Amino acid sequence: MKALDPLGKLRRTHYCGSLRAEHVGQEIVLCGWVHRRRDHGGVIFVDLRDRSGVAQVVFRPDSGATDAHARAHELRSEYVIAVRGELVRREDDASNPNMATGEVELTVRDLRLLNTATTPPFPVEDEVEVDDAVRMRNRIHDLRRPVMQQRLMLRDRLNRSLRASCTDLELLEIETPMLARATPEGARDFLVPSRAYPGQFYALPQSPQIMKQLLMVAGYDGYFQIARCFRDEDQRADRQLEFTQLDLEMSFVGEDEVLAALEKITARAFADVLGVELPRPFPRLAFDEAVGRYGSDKPDTRIALELVDLSSVVAGCGFKVFADAVAQGGVVKGLPVPDARDLGRRDIDRLGEQAQAWGARGLAWVRVQDDGSWQSPIAKFLSEEVRAEITRAAGLEPGHVILFGADRPDVVHEVLGRLRLDLGARLGRAEPRDWDVLFVVGFPIFERTDDGSLTYMHMPFVAPVEDDIALLETDPLAVRATHYDLVINGTEIGSGSLRNHRADVQLRILELLGYDEATARERFGFMLDALDTGAPPHGGFAFGLDRLAMLMSGGESLRDVIAFPKTQRAQDPFLQAPGAVDPGQLRELGLRVRRQAPEGE
Ligand code: AMO
Ligand code: AMP
Repeated sequence: MKALDPLGKLRRTHYCGSLRAEHVGQEIVLCGWVHRRRDHGGVIFVDLRDRSGVAQVVFRPDSGATDAHARAHELRSEYVIAVRGELVRREDDASNPNMATGEVELTVRDLRLLNTATTPPFPVEDEVEVDDAVRMRNRIHDLRRPVMQQRLMLRDRLNRSLRASCTDLELLEIETPMLARATPEGARDFLVPSRAYPGQFYALPQSPQIMKQLLMVAGYDGYFQIARCFRDEDQRADRQLEFTQLDLEMSFVGEDEVLAALEKITARAFADVLGVELPRPFPRLAFDEAVGRYGSDKPDTRIALELVDLSSVVAGCGFKVFADAVAQGGVVKGLPVPDARDLGRRDIDRLGEQAQAWGARGLAWVRVQDDGSWQSPIAKFLSEEVRAEITRAAGLEPGHVILFGADRPDVVHEVLGRLRLDLGARLGRAEPRDWDVLFVVGFPIFERTDDGSLTYMHMPFVAPVEDDIALLETDPLAVRATHYDLVINGTEIGSGSLRNHRADVQLRILELLGYDEATARERFGFMLDALDTGAPPHGGFAFGLDRLAMLMSGGESLRDVIAFPKTQRAQDPFLQAPGAVDPGQLRELGLRVRRQAPEGE
């Protein structure tokens, strides 16, 4: 009988990676890619690969399957085949304990060649010495590498776990539009021209923020969505132009209820995906404390190094840099590093250059020698008493090196915070704990821009802490936000807040941000009107799913957990996006190109 489809009579019975000793004696059909072929004195071994792993299949000249054996000579890497045979136990000395399927092999009786393949540009192996550009241009082969398949499969497990948690929390999965209006999350919008209304544009959502709030106003009580977000911002290892959030919003809740839900979702995800039980409750760290002690609002608290505030100790001291910094309203902080004898003079100089690249004007330092004396370029400027005070305040002992920052608080925190991470990694000062999970809470609602005006720290819809509403006009910088971040291993995994559900408070905030009422109504009128229709108190959160998947899978870039990501240069070299379009399409949209990217860009 003629075969009705390419598989002929062969139908897969097992995945390659699932074969174990318990299957010995069974007739088995495997389908997959030729990972490797070896000829051993007439016996041909093929490692056959599918997404579950690799199994050894063997073609023997004496097995009565001469046809299969003869054709096995033609097999090359990445050919696609189906094989049928009997699973046998490998001889003791041939079994491979490093391979999940290493105790067994398939003795092939039937071989069906389903497709040939061009020679791969690099081996389909976990470890390949090729640069990112080559990986991206050859994304199919890259995606075939077992490590990549495991990462994307992990991401699938993560999605399932998150969905299950949200359903348990009785959140409704509701989709919101991609063709929408600009949403203020602080990045540039991607615009989509409208054909029906030439000259008008949809904006791809930077997040579903406004839409999920409108759903709360409309009475849906609890919502979640695994939502694609678009932000036209500079690409980094932890930023993509389009990325995915687990976005959620809840009605009639306060901060505690939202954080409890987030903790449940996160803990379950770690249990489901990695089998890790995270210690609960997750610690909550106040923003001021996080920045003060770790120089960052997303601290990795495994690193056992902390900043010390020395401003009051060095105020008015003989070292002008320190005294001036304090006199001008700045701070002087130290980063003491114990047991730093390995940190040589040249290392410290390099840290100084690094610090300047990050915005510092210099990096003063002291090494406490074994006899307790100071080796330091600034010792001569400091009195005995000031040195004793610094020693006490920073807990200095022989072997310590302390690095100083003297500047505006934001500069000092940025620089010492980054040095802390750098030194923590380099000197191996992290506690042996895999997961550092915490909430950062108590952010200010506003910050000052360089021109002195107020801007929102996260977004304009964040509600102030109820007790601070009265301070909005009198002392806005002291107003605390109901904003919270989830930080894992020093990465911001997600953020959220309670929202303004009262139009009058929302309007006051917009006015403080520099909108007069008319402009506020023009830009956010539909939001203000919606709040006036009877909005419940509500709040929510968004997890950066790509970042969470990256951390969980040990990937180094979001590109490792996204099937078809964009490069640092905002391109997809495989799909060749972005690309030029047909002039007819532009005409239809009423558009003309005034500036063209140079050829080859
Ligand atoms: P936010 O802008 O903080 O909040 O985004 C939430 C989380 O999304 C991830 N993220 C990104 N991941 C990859 N590439 C990017 N370019 C990128 N930008 C953000 C981060 C971040 O913590 N609407 C609010 C949430 C809310 O308040 O409910 C929002 O979008 O992990
Ligand atoms: P100077 O007096 O400028 O030669 O600086 C003496 C030391 O103080 C050098 O080690 C500088 O790197 C350091 N230094 C200068 N400015 C700062 C600053 N703003 N913060 C910390 N250290 C500084």
